[in-house]
Amino acid sequence: MTTPGIARLLALAALAAAASSASADPFPGADLVAAKKLHAELCVECHARHFGGEDGSAIYTRPDRRITTPSALAQQITTCTSMLRLALFPEDELNLAGYLNKHYYHFK
Ligand code: HEC
Repeated sequence: MTTPGIARLLALAALAAAASSASADPFPGADLVAAKKLHAELCVECHARHFGGEDGSAIYTRPDRRITTPSALAQQITTCTSMLRLALFPEDELNLAGYLNKHYYHFK
């Protein structure tokens, strides 16, 4: 784990925490169109391989899914992108979090 990775995680978690107390949307301003494309390119194939579902969404909707809070969602996205050795921008991670939240997690 590199320092920039930790800094990114903390920034995103702080953002999620601050946002969730201020508004109903824990990931305000997320660009859902950009996220949809990024998600299809980077995330679906591996999730579908491990958990099934044609569009790879089974991982987010399985009954024992792991993510139960907005900050856990932000953290898991960082974990997955680190596995990929991807250096996504914080905006990209925010966009992905907003996208997954809108479609699957529905955190307020
Ligand atoms: C190399 C494979 C791989 C890639 C690529 C990948 N993930 Fe994952 N992801 C996993 C695995 C494996 C898990 C399940 C971890 C577990 O259950 O402990 C997971 C779990 C998750 C979860 C939690 C699901 C739950 O249980 O609620 C989220 C959210 C997530 N990934 C987001 C992403 C995003 C966003 C991307 C693309 C930027 C991505 N992942 C790319 C392997 C991957």
